[in-house]
Amino acid sequence: MKSNSKVFLVGFMGCGKSTLGKKLARKLNKEFIDLDDFIEEQEKLTINEIFEQVGEAGFRALENKWLKFVSQKYDNAVISCGGGTPCFNGNMNFMLEKGKVVYIQLPPKVLCDRLTNERQKRPLIAKLSDNELLEFIKTKLSERSPYYLQSSILFDPLGETEVELMERL
Ligand code: S3P
Repeated sequence: MKSNSKVFLVGFMGCGKSTLGKKLARKLNKEFIDLDDFIEEQEKLTINEIFEQVGEAGFRALENKWLKFVSQKYDNAVISCGGGTPCFNGNMNFMLEKGKVVYIQLPPKVLCDRLTNERQKRPLIAKLSDNELLEFIKTKLSERSPYYLQSSILFDPLGETEVELMERL
């Protein structure tokens, strides 16, 4: 892939965007940016605090603003997005214009197992019981799939290696 280019990683909460993003950035010699971490640093608030103070709509506005900022600032980067990023404010079209978008695709049950002990930092699922969590994932994933599936590359981490993904970038 071109040395000066951007890769956006998208997918549901818990699919491994940040973990994969760090590895890809290292191997491709690019900067790594985690959009949620970037927003927290810039706003000096946690994602939970932002949701508490301005609600989801307020968070989506900030997410759009900082996505644009990061895309402008970094030419050569792997950017891992939040789970909802591609589904709001025209962000998916924006990312497709600026670089390659990789969807990390996993089934609801696998996401649920991964998220069971990772609920606290995620306001959308923090208060859900185990049963509610799986139902929530199924519903949200079907709402969000039409966006995720517009990605340039679909990556199945259970069936494909990172080296194979890199060859497709
Ligand atoms: C969200 C996912 C989170 C974070 C926020 C909202 C979502 O990011 O942006 O809590 O709407 O799916 P992760 O996918 O990194 O957990």
